Amino acid sequence: MSYKALYKSWQDNPAAFWMGAAQAIDWVKPPSKALFDDKAPFYEWYADGQLNGCWNAVDRHVQAGRGDQAAIIYDSPVTQTKQQITYAELQTRVASLAGALRAKGVEKGDRVLIYMPMVPEAVEAMLACARLGAIHSVVFGGFAANELAVRVDDAQPKCIIAASCGIEPGRIVHYKPLLDGALDIASHQPDFCVIFQRDQEVAKLEPGRDVDWHAFQYGVDPAECVPVAGNHPAYILYTSGTTGQPKGVVRHTAGHLVSLHWTMKNIYNVQPGGVYWAASDVGWVVGHSYICYAPLVHGNTTVIYEGKPVGTPDAGAFWRMIEEYKIKCLFTAPTAFRAIKREDPEGKLMGDYDLSSLQSLFLAGERADPDTIEWAQRHLGVPVIDHWWQTETGFAIAASPLGVEALPVKIGSPSVPMPGYDVQILDEGGHPVAPGELGAIAIKLPLPPGTLPTLWNAAERYQKSYLDQFPGYYATGDAGMKDEDGYLYIMARTDDVINVAGHRLSTGAMEEVLAAHPNVAECAVIGVKDDLKGQLPLGFLCMNAGANRDEAEVTGEVIKLVRDKIGPVAAFKLAVVVDRLPKTRSGKILRGTMAKIADGEDYKTPATIDDPVILDEITSALQRVGYGGR
Ligand code: COA
Ligand code: AMP
Repeated sequence: MSYKALYKSWQDNPAAFWMGAAQAIDWVKPPSKALFDDKAPFYEWYADGQLNGCWNAVDRHVQAGRGDQAAIIYDSPVTQTKQQITYAELQTRVASLAGALRAKGVEKGDRVLIYMPMVPEAVEAMLACARLGAIHSVVFGGFAANELAVRVDDAQPKCIIAASCGIEPGRIVHYKPLLDGALDIASHQPDFCVIFQRDQEVAKLEPGRDVDWHAFQYGVDPAECVPVAGNHPAYILYTSGTTGQPKGVVRHTAGHLVSLHWTMKNIYNVQPGGVYWAASDVGWVVGHSYICYAPLVHGNTTVIYEGKPVGTPDAGAFWRMIEEYKIKCLFTAPTAFRAIKREDPEGKLMGDYDLSSLQSLFLAGERADPDTIEWAQRHLGVPVIDHWWQTETGFAIAASPLGVEALPVKIGSPSVPMPGYDVQILDEGGHPVAPGELGAIAIKLPLPPGTLPTLWNAAERYQKSYLDQFPGYYATGDAGMKDEDGYLYIMARTDDVINVAGHRLSTGAMEEVLAAHPNVAECAVIGVKDDLKGQLPLGFLCMNAGANRDEAEVTGEVIKLVRDKIGPVAAFKLAVVVDRLPKTRSGKILRGTMAKIADGEDYKTPATIDDPVILDEITSALQRVGYGGR
């Protein structure tokens, strides 16, 4: 089938398309229909079906004779550990963990927060929740205690599962002290915490609250899979919005399993049994969808890699992995390839390895720059597919569906919309623009199965953030265009979100932290271009009158403040003091103009600017830190 025929088959009859796709997963009770639109614009899929996520990811493969196949390959250069877990072993381990959680009172609908590094136990914890119908919420390890506390208060977990520590090159990340710190700040307290002790740092357990991962499983009955409704939340994943309060993206069980299963063959072109590696982190959506659920639901072997593309030990790390595990499909963020390319521009280290198993490379999470794509194409000699998606959608909005038809690649474009997505480029009034014209990228409702049905505890915010701007559409927050052939081009965010090393961050959240510094009267944070990480945050500070502080001291303090409050992942290391911020006459800070100056791009002085001279002051402040017309 061609891509066009596939897309048309969905357009002609979306219900039949998604009911067909639903047959690939196991149901306790099949749904009576695909779409439930009685609460539109809140849509649900397969709502009256009954199923279990863990059954679909684990047990059914054991039943079907895949028990001896590796479900998980764990490779950790930072601890010198390698381990393989078969589907049969995974079933035993997850059933035992779920049994222990159940014995301590975790039931269907309870929230369980997971704060763990890239170890198999992180995926097992997710699957144990799915087994019980508990709703997991995984928090990325690079966030600080305060961010963890915000998520604890919003999700109100009955239990928190954490590791004693994580390992970043050159330092131990003290997960347990970070967790203790978060619980000191949070208003909500879990009934208990399960701590996975690692050899690299054994944590002190809080008597009466903390239990040891292994000890609390001793002697418990393993848990069976609990059937849940198709619209039962499988997980909440917090992502950056425009303020310090992250958005709790909800994922319903059935739609998520059906759509992810569909993508494995149709987009990634892998067959059950093949080794699939998403080099990301379980704390991000890529990790949820393509380290945990999709490969397992499809019967593939998934890879948990606790290391970096460079420095663990060198820029050949990815190639070693491909050779050692005969990886067929690799999915990562362009940043990882930029890091490798920077260390090994000629790709010399590739020559040391047999990369013949690799059939494709998929890139997402941020804009893939042409240099990186061409470098990967040239050196790997396999299709390099840029695809575009978001935490909210859970799978690709646009891609080249390699398992259906390898479309011609247009560098700079993540190709074409996938079935389920009617993508339109709209002007400010919500009218579609002509091909080649820039506009806001919106998707006609309903979104397909597996995409967010709402935000956790925040239905109004869901409506306001995504649905109100263009009635009848979901606003993606991205701006871009479509060409004559229907290829999409994703150019920029329309909100305060920036993308640093493939990590989505809110400049609004950073501004809230800067504004809390006692000497800061006013501030703004923008994203500036960076050759490695795509973007970096840069803060402008106006000090209180009479503060009389040394600039370097204050910038040092705010940098530390962002690291302490948001976390190292914010990569906030650039700040400058200015007398005033450029604003419109109505008081709106001209962040876009400042970003253009920082990136050395041409800009027009906005007609509405209050005082154009300020732009010269901004330029010289930026030049002091190496930006703005370098
Ligand atoms: N736990 C704790 N801290 C973490 C962390 C984690 N899981 N992940 C990152 N951090 C820390 C890093 O140690 C770094 O701290 P530092 O300021 O003390 O050096 C900081 O957060 C920023 O991390 P990052 O932006 O990732 O930079 P880096 O210099 O450590 O690594 C790359 C650069 C390119 C190697 C790395 O960003 C990378 O591999 N990116 C791939 C992109 C990716 O996986 N994206 C996920 C979405 S697909
Ligand atoms: P996240 O929710 O963290 O996955 O971030 C989603 C955002 O990352 C999108 O809204 C885009 O701004 C950006 N993004 C993801 N994939 C791509 C891509 N292939 N090209 C351009 N931008 C992308």
